[in-house]
Amino acid sequence: MIVLGIETSCDETSVAIVGENDHIYSNIISSQVELHARFGGVVPEIASRNHLEALPSLMDSALEEASLSLNDIEGVAVTARPGLIGALLVGLQAAKSIAWALDVPIVGIHHLEAHIYAAHLSSPKPEYPYIALVVSGGHTSLFEVFDVGNVRLLGATRDDAAGEAYDKIAKMLGLGYPGGPIIDKLASKGDPNKYDFPMAMMRKGNLEFSFSGLKTAVRVFLQKHELKSEQDIADVCASVQRAIVQTLIRKIEYASEATNVRRVVVAGGVSANSGLRSALEDLSNRLGLEVFVPELRLCTDNGAMVAGLGRQYLLRGVRSSMLLNAEPYRPLGVEGVPPAGD
Ligand code: KG4
Ligand code: ZN
Repeated sequence: MIVLGIETSCDETSVAIVGENDHIYSNIISSQVELHARFGGVVPEIASRNHLEALPSLMDSALEEASLSLNDIEGVAVTARPGLIGALLVGLQAAKSIAWALDVPIVGIHHLEAHIYAAHLSSPKPEYPYIALVVSGGHTSLFEVFDVGNVRLLGATRDDAAGEAYDKIAKMLGLGYPGGPIIDKLASKGDPNKYDFPMAMMRKGNLEFSFSGLKTAVRVFLQKHELKSEQDIADVCASVQRAIVQTLIRKIEYASEATNVRRVVVAGGVSANSGLRSALEDLSNRLGLEVFVPELRLCTDNGAMVAGLGRQYLLRGVRSSMLLNAEPYRPLGVEGVPPAGD
């Protein structure tokens, strides 16, 4: 089955085509980062308008790169939850129109489950069950994943997401948006042990996260210290990165101990972080956990993860109706809340 996937939940517009054995025929991503950068974060209305403008040509490019025509598309998958409501609606309307015109089934997908599924689009592919840590700009959550559509929430952040902490701290340091990749790059030149920034909720077995204290600690630090050189900034970046990465690694260890599951998937924009990726390798060597991280282009928002996961649902007979609507806040892995369909 060949499935077209559409992702418009935040500031990346993406259209992808995925087929047999999770083969990615095409995965076209148009980032709006530059449009939002001067505001220091995503402006929802600008995002919606640009998704609308970008979608038709991305659709053409996705078909062209795949050397397929619209008639080859056998199903449509679209991110329906969670995300910016206006942004989601643009993708939903496009997806519904295509599904209706081609008379093929459509399925609405949960963005976080799609991030997790990205691990199945790289090789080696994880077997079920596994623990999944989703670290993105809007979410930091740990799940136990038994199968497609069968996910249990283990813990999530109480306040800021890890990516949000990166973005906000970069803003305080005057480094620009999005902050994650910028801090990541500067951190490689700094001393990670220079400053001891706080790590929250670290009591053994605690599977929740909190990053707002780290953000405040950096703000107070910056009020008291003047950063005089590039090296000073790099040292702060490296120390912040150490606090975030060590927190994430420790929580994965706790989740593995609590569930007795020794396979781990790490996904979402922050999984592109070089410090996190190398700490995950250490973790795997140290404790023998099997760690799966999607290849870089599949870590941040993309349509392939939506098409791939949507294809699994469609193969299992799950479908959405044309009444499918955007849901900005729907949780994943909470009992009684189905992740896909409607
Ligand atoms: O998954 P994603 O593309 O969008 C959301 O669903 O939020 O994640 C975006 C987030 C941003 O906060 C960005 O700063 C962060 O991922 N990010 C990184 C890196 N690349 C992207 N954070 C740390 N290190 C990176 N290399
Ligand atoms: Zn995302």
